[in-house]
Amino acid sequence: MTTTPNGSVTFSIDGTNRSTKLPVHKGTLGPDVVDIRKLYADLGVFTFDPGYGETASCESTITYIDGDEGVLLYRGYPIEQLAEHSDFIEVCYLLMNGELPSAAQLKDFKKGVTYHTMVHEQIRRFFDGFRRDAHPMAVMCGVVGALAAFYHDNLDINDPEQRRIAAFRLIAKVPTIAAMAYKYSLGQPFVYPRNDLDYAANFLYMLNAVPAEPYQVSPVLAKAMDRILVLHADHEQNASTSTVRLAGSTGANPFACIAAGIAALWGPAHGGANEAVLKMLGEIGHAKNIPSFIEKVKDKNSNVKLMGFGHRVYKNFDPRAKIMQKTCHEVLGELGITDEPLLDLAMELERIAIHDDYFVSRKLYPNVDFYSGIILKAMGIPTSMFTVIFAVARTVGWVSQWKEMIEDPSQRIGRPRQIYTGAPRRDYVPAAQRG
Ligand code: SDX
Repeated sequence: MTTTPNGSVTFSIDGTNRSTKLPVHKGTLGPDVVDIRKLYADLGVFTFDPGYGETASCESTITYIDGDEGVLLYRGYPIEQLAEHSDFIEVCYLLMNGELPSAAQLKDFKKGVTYHTMVHEQIRRFFDGFRRDAHPMAVMCGVVGALAAFYHDNLDINDPEQRRIAAFRLIAKVPTIAAMAYKYSLGQPFVYPRNDLDYAANFLYMLNAVPAEPYQVSPVLAKAMDRILVLHADHEQNASTSTVRLAGSTGANPFACIAAGIAALWGPAHGGANEAVLKMLGEIGHAKNIPSFIEKVKDKNSNVKLMGFGHRVYKNFDPRAKIMQKTCHEVLGELGITDEPLLDLAMELERIAIHDDYFVSRKLYPNVDFYSGIILKAMGIPTSMFTVIFAVARTVGWVSQWKEMIEDPSQRIGRPRQIYTGAPRRDYVPAAQRG
C-alpha cells in the first residue's frame, strides 16, 4: 500500500483475554482505514458490513468523493473545473494515465481511440438475434461481452500491451455498439463511425445520421453530450465499478468484466435511475400532484422512491447534479426551448423536497440522475437509451479501475465472507421418513 501508517486500533472480545492491534492507514484525502486483514487469524471473527457502506475494498488513486462536502475529484482535479475546461477524451486520458496529457500525448491517445471505433463486421449479425424492441441495455450486455469472441489477442490480462489495446478497444467500441443498438431498435441501418469527428460528435453522428442525406452534428448538442460523458466517467467504488473489479479479480478478460459492469449499472437503484426519473416525472404529470406524490414516497408501504434523489455517499448535493442542472438550462436555452414542463416540474419537485424534513433528515439530495434525463430528452434521445449513455461514459472509469486493480501487486481474488444463520448441521432424512 502507498498509504501512511497512522497508529493502530485495538480490537478485543468482551469476556475473553483475546485482543489484537490492527494498523491504521492514512490516504491522501478522506477517512483513514483500519487494516483488518489479520482480524480473523487473531480473533476468529469477521467484520459485518452488508452493502459495504463502511468498507474500503481497495486502494485507489483514480477518483475521490467527499459525500459530506459534495466533492468529486478525478485524479485530484475538481469535477467542476473538468466539466468547464476539459473534454471527455482528455478526461479519458487523465483517468487512464493519472495526469493531464501534453498536446502530443493527447493527439496520440485520440488516434488510439479513433482507430478502434469500428467493430468486426460479423458483430452486425449479432443484432439479428435480438427483437427490435429489446431494451438496448440487454443488447449492450450481450454484444460487449461477445467482444471476447472476436479479440482473442486481447485476453491475456497479464500482458500490459494487451491491456492497453483492450482499453482502447472498449473506450472506442462501446459508443459504436450503443449507436448500433439504437439504430437496430429503429429499424434503421447502422452508421459507421467517422474519424474526422471527436468522441461525442461521432457518437451523436452514429446515433442520428441516415444514409439518405448528409447529417451535420450540432455543436451545441456535441458539447452537451461531451459534458454528460465527463460527469459520468468515474465515481470511485460504486456498484458497477465494484462488479468490474470483482470480475476482474478472477482473471476474467476485460470484455467480460465490462459486460458485468453494464449489467450492474442497469439497475434502477444505480445507472437505471435516469430512465426512472423521466418515468416518475411523467407519472407525476403536474406540479399540483407533487404533494400527493411526496406523501406516497414517505409511505414505506408504497415502495415508491424519489428517483434521482439520495446517494450512498453524497449526504449533500451531488456536485454533478448542480452542473447537470446548469447544463440543462444552457442546452434548453441554446436549443431555443423556453418552455420545458419536465424541467419546471423537476425544479419544483427539487425545491419542495429539499425543504421537506423527510428528505432533509435523511440527507437526500438530487444526484447525477435527477437532471440528466431532461437534457437527454431535449437532445432527442429516448429514455430507453439513457442508461446506455451512462454506460458509454462509465466504460473509461471501469477500464481505468480494472487496469489499476490488475496492476496492484497486492490484489487477489475478491472473496467476501458471511455470517451464517441457517440450519445447524443435520443428517439427511429419507423421503419415506419425512413428515
Ligand atoms: C448512481 O454509488 C455511486 O457512486 C452511484 C452513482 C455513480 O456515479 O456510480 O453515483 C450513480 O447510482 C446514483 C444513484 C441513482 N439512484 C437513484 O436515484 C435511485 C433512488 N435512490 C435510492 O434508491 C437510494 O438513495 C440509493 C440507492 C441511491 C442509495 O441507497 P442507500 O444508501 O441504501 O440509501 P440510504 O441508506 O441513504 O437511505 C436512508 C433513508 C432510508 O429510509 P429510512 O430506512 O431511514 O426510513 O432514506 C431513504 C431510505 O429508504 N431513501 C429514500 C431514497 N433514497 C433513500 N427515500 C425516498 N426516495 C429515495 N430516493
